[in-house]
Amino acid sequence: ILVPVILCGGAGTRLWPESRVTHPKPFIPLPDGESLIQKTFRRASQLPGVSEVLTVTTDDLLFKTEDAYATTDDAVACNHGYILEPFGRNTAASFAAAALDVASRYGPDAHILILAADHLITDESTFARAVEQATNLAAQQKLTVFGIVPEHPETGYGYIQAAAGPGDQLSVQQFVEKPDAATAQAYVDSGNYYWNSGMFCSRADLALAELKAHAPELLQSVSRALESGIQSQGKGHCSTRLCPEAFAQVPDISIDYALMEKTACLAGVKADIGWSDIGSWEAMGQLTPADDRGNRFDGEVLSTGASNNYVRSHDRLTALVGVEDLLVIDTADALLIAHKSQAQGVKDIVAQLKRSG
Ligand code: GDD
Ligand code: MG
Repeated sequence: ILVPVILCGGAGTRLWPESRVTHPKPFIPLPDGESLIQKTFRRASQLPGVSEVLTVTTDDLLFKTEDAYATTDDAVACNHGYILEPFGRNTAASFAAAALDVASRYGPDAHILILAADHLITDESTFARAVEQATNLAAQQKLTVFGIVPEHPETGYGYIQAAAGPGDQLSVQQFVEKPDAATAQAYVDSGNYYWNSGMFCSRADLALAELKAHAPELLQSVSRALESGIQSQGKGHCSTRLCPEAFAQVPDISIDYALMEKTACLAGVKADIGWSDIGSWEAMGQLTPADDRGNRFDGEVLSTGASNNYVRSHDRLTALVGVEDLLVIDTADALLIAHKSQAQGVKDIVAQLKRSG
């Protein structure tokens, strides 16, 4: 049995002003109208042999998530359940809750496939094949990661040092989460490091054994939060709401630091699946075709003498005259204008907003 587990939480700040605390990245519609979480749910529900998709999210995102799933086109009608966190405690907690829940309901040999709610995967058939391979490795008591051939020295990712082969298999030597810029550059130059896609496949019992070895307190407090959680039956889904008092004891750490850097059971699959985590407006822009001056316009836009801009403007008409290399993101209550070379500065704006309340 394979249970896909979608992790949805954490507030991405790089896609402000579309991304807000109450409306994070997984829910932002792409140019084709579908959001990343809808795509993730459909992709997960269509994997062979899947009868339930489990979502771990925070209480306040439940209704948004339900809405997104209800309107996902051609998702295979499949059960879905929730583990609801009273507040975000990072991904190690979510991972642990999913492993405990799946082991108790489906047995220790059930597989969990952890998926991020905010990733784009354009080659879905290769994704399905990669999952099949990962499931096979997981059956041999491996915690399996999906390696992406790196394109640039991104410091926001984890890196997997691995030897390739046989086939798309990776034998993993080391996992390093979010290295500094110089280290990331050295990794990319060396040719034997892969980006960690943030998806993981494991038998539930192995996940629990490894958590017990490397993060015993975390596992214990999540386990208590689950045991004293409240089960409820919603429309077409069941959910477990984790006990806030117990969950408050859980350390705030990502699964990458808590487990992937520490475990000796890693294996990998090379996943050439058209993966992107849409980490910036520049990346979002790439999804809209360019005109002959390199402009990408999503929505209602007119231009003259403008080149290499990305504009997203759905609520009103935007016009560009003679400007270049700009990101223009127009929303109902906030407008972002940024130079493409400084797009990381969006984070500073979000920080200023937080400070000013
Ligand atoms: N339920 C829940 N609760 N989900 C969470 C929480 C939480 O507290 N925090 C984050 N998530 C979800 C996010 O919505 C996302 O789908 C996924 O877990 C990963 O979290 P991120 O916060 O986006 O992690 P990251 O981007 O810093 O790093 C991870 O992903 C990279 C690839 O995109 C790591 O796994 C890296 O190693 C990896 O390269
Ligand atoms: Mg991310």
